[in-house]
Amino acid sequence: EILKELEEKCATPPWKLNLIADAMNVEMHAGLASEGGSKLKMLITYVDKLPTGNEEGLYYALDLGGTNFRVLRVQLGGKDVGVLSREFTEVSVPPNLMIGTSVALFDYIAAELAKFVAQENQEFQVPPGRQRELGFTFSFPVSQTSIASGNLIKWTKGFNIDDAVGRDVVVELTKAIQRQGLDMRVAALVNDTVGTLAGGRHANSNVIAAIILGTGTNAAYVERAQAIPKWHGPLPDSGEMVINMEWGNFRSSHLPLTEYDYALDAESLNPGDQIFEKMTSGMYLGEIVRRVLCKMAEEAFFFGDNIPLKLKVPFMLRTPDMSAMHHDSSADLNVVGRKLKYSLGISDTSLEVRKVVVEICNIIATRGARIAAAGILGILKKLGKDSISEVEGQKNVIAMDGGLFEHYTEYRKYLANTLKELVGEDISESISIEHSNDGSGIGAALLAASHSQFLDG
Ligand code: BG6
Ligand code: GLC
Repeated sequence: EILKELEEKCATPPWKLNLIADAMNVEMHAGLASEGGSKLKMLITYVDKLPTGNEEGLYYALDLGGTNFRVLRVQLGGKDVGVLSREFTEVSVPPNLMIGTSVALFDYIAAELAKFVAQENQEFQVPPGRQRELGFTFSFPVSQTSIASGNLIKWTKGFNIDDAVGRDVVVELTKAIQRQGLDMRVAALVNDTVGTLAGGRHANSNVIAAIILGTGTNAAYVERAQAIPKWHGPLPDSGEMVINMEWGNFRSSHLPLTEYDYALDAESLNPGDQIFEKMTSGMYLGEIVRRVLCKMAEEAFFFGDNIPLKLKVPFMLRTPDMSAMHHDSSADLNVVGRKLKYSLGISDTSLEVRKVVVEICNIIATRGARIAAAGILGILKKLGKDSISEVEGQKNVIAMDGGLFEHYTEYRKYLANTLKELVGEDISESISIEHSNDGSGIGAALLAASHSQFLDG
């Protein structure tokens, strides 16, 4: 019963996906028209030219907001050379810092940066006496006031640090860098989608949009400046502006929401926000599955008379574990058996029970991937790239990154297949989805280079 109802409620027939794509398109227009005009913030990024390939020199990048926090050092070789060297260090942000104070978080980041800078070697280094420059990838909604400044609108994903909201994150970072005794300038502040777009474009000039499917989800794309009524600044020479959609906050009555989604949202750090993200991204998919299993245990005694305590604990089932269960190809589904036992404390499951668990993973992953594909169709519609006369002979590439996209094979397949199904065979030949591995880190370094204070010097 519960399974059947879930299946029905999560159904995403093409007509529904088309309605979602249309709604996305409508909200994109509304968000571009005025500040606060839509749930889609359609943030102006101040990136009005994407990398050309001429960028040169040693730049640093900081990447905060995914599963891991990373510091990178990228040596750009200039024309026809590309990226000469790329080194990075990666740490997971201690959970207490994600909900602590702004100073504690930024001090931690700056300390990691200082450690990494100290390892700069002879081969690749900033010329003596020259201030080091940095691209800061900050993967949260920010209202930018220039390429290198912007105020945090709100936290998303697992972060919640009240005293940082409304503050300029570049100022906070710069102060923390100074407290470390480092002399470094933030040359560009970018969202991870914008970094991925820049890195993707550097690698392939056909890239028109970038999408992150990781802990959270979001999209950025290149818009005509004249199609942005809320932009009152000077018209950029390129005539273009990159828009950070913050599509995780999209919401529409056409989204197939269930009781599990409502409950997850109500108990989350940010109730009412990021509804699309809560249905599609890595932070939440496993948690939705856990909620379904919990209901089946409580109301149908699906795992026997006792309800395992762990099953009741939010976020006990992580999406990588869900993915491992979903991909279990063994005859007795022993991966499923092990994950249920060690992640959720459910032992001695029968093959029948395990099959149902796989089915639930499949329903939730399919729904997420299919509505993400509908989101992409929404962007294509906005750009007029959903009509064959417009895209004939074109190659339009969407750069993708994030742990969910990278590691959840079934999800990735559903996404690609659904997009194909929605746009049709002919148009689908002009569109490709490509994994842009760490485009975001390189992209931030590239944007720091193209906004360097030393460009004319
Ligand atoms: C990485 C990007 O590859 O993907 C990051 O470099 C981005 O900028 C991240 O935030 C998102 O993935 P996840 O799975 O770590 O949230
Ligand atoms: C969340 C953030 C957004 C980011 C996305 C992917 O949706 O709000 O800024 O791009 O996660 O990391």
